[in-house]
Amino acid sequence: MTKKLWGSRFKKPTSAIADRFTSSISFDKRLAIYDIKGSIAHAKMLGKCKIIPSPESKKIVSGLEKLLAKLHSGSFKFDYNAEDIHTNIQNCLAKMIGLVADKLHTARSRNDQVTLDVRMYCKDIIDSLNYEVNLLGKQILNFAKQNIDCIIPAYTHLQPAQPVLLAHYLLAYLQMLERDKARLQFARESSDVMPLGSCALAGTGLPIDRFFVAKQLGFKKVSENSVDAVSDRDFVLDLLSALVILSVHLSRIAEDLILWSTKEFDIIDIDWSLCTGSSIMPHKKNPDCLELIRGTCGKIQSDLSAVLIMLKGLPLSYNRDMQLDKEPLFDAVERIDQMLEVFQEIFKAIKINQAKLKEKLADESLYSVDIVEYLITKGLSYRKAHDTVGKLVKDVLDNGKQIKDLNIDELRKFSPVFDNNVFDLLDAQVSVNRKTTFGSTSKKNVLLALKKMQAKVGA
Ligand code: ARG
Repeated sequence: MTKKLWGSRFKKPTSAIADRFTSSISFDKRLAIYDIKGSIAHAKMLGKCKIIPSPESKKIVSGLEKLLAKLHSGSFKFDYNAEDIHTNIQNCLAKMIGLVADKLHTARSRNDQVTLDVRMYCKDIIDSLNYEVNLLGKQILNFAKQNIDCIIPAYTHLQPAQPVLLAHYLLAYLQMLERDKARLQFARESSDVMPLGSCALAGTGLPIDRFFVAKQLGFKKVSENSVDAVSDRDFVLDLLSALVILSVHLSRIAEDLILWSTKEFDIIDIDWSLCTGSSIMPHKKNPDCLELIRGTCGKIQSDLSAVLIMLKGLPLSYNRDMQLDKEPLFDAVERIDQMLEVFQEIFKAIKINQAKLKEKLADESLYSVDIVEYLITKGLSYRKAHDTVGKLVKDVLDNGKQIKDLNIDELRKFSPVFDNNVFDLLDAQVSVNRKTTFGSTSKKNVLLALKKMQAKVGA
């Protein structure tokens, strides 16, 4: 094992198995950039507050900047024998600038350092996830606009219910994604608190300037309690919760598309490039990408559960258990990122089967609520109108007929208020455009809603 940050007090070296078991470098190396940036701000502050001489602070900062450049160029070599990312950076710096590197850890503990790094990671990653969610939103919005006149039968209980504009349906997805963006923003706010200076848990007597560090690193707030600062992982839970709900949304959208692309529904076609075949059945075209989106949602839920369970019985303040927040966090972030990317591709290339839609929209049961509303406007009570249409529907179905084949006298057997314009209701476009109240599916409403959504997701 490479030199440890705490080795000298130890009576004998740690065993190889303990080293392997406690090591986190294989995953916390993702925090390298934040660890270095945090250290640069900390070193500048130590110099400014005259806790270390200014030339030494400068030397440390310039060494760290070189490490940062190496990291960006890909030439930084991680030492997998060094316990964690903090040890890695510290040891590399020492190799580069010598003994003065030892002063970097003044008024700092890995307890406040690690949570600083993770908070910085969360803020960055939330910005990029937000961007990706928004890109997907744009993709869906474009798809909606391109198909503005397309009407689909929508379902409740997976039974045909009422026709709606496809764009209206897609705008429901966009509402979901807007709420996801708001939840991500909330998680960003709760990450945006600078914990450095809390040290191990008690704070420090050295005259540090925590607000200077926060400003350097672009944090909005400084943590208000040193014990809380090293114990708190709520911001990780906030982000994971936002990701779980986002993944549930992605999974539900995936399920819609899977259903719609089955032979049974057959109303959309997913591009070949995003499907896979079967090793035994030559005819197959399976929507595996969508299925994996649906499946991965479960993995992300388990990531949130893992962190919740890890935290639930922990006494304050820092405990090593908390190292286990990172793999689930990174896992959820990286999977969601892929899911969002795949989804963008899928929406780019969905084809609509207009002929099939026309066939499905010929199902008169889709218009039964319109007939009920028509009867209500003719003076019938809701209950009477519902009963009347119920009997009408039963009768035509029992006799293998359709409402449109009845004449007005036959219709009036069910209610004398029927007149000829009831037949106009058996039409998808008429049905959709009757839904004029705020939030309903008429084309006029949907055009306005698209405009409003456009303003949210940007051009
Ligand atoms: N790898 C640790 C973590 O992720 C870093 C902090 C270690 N602190 C300590 N006192 N051992 O939480």
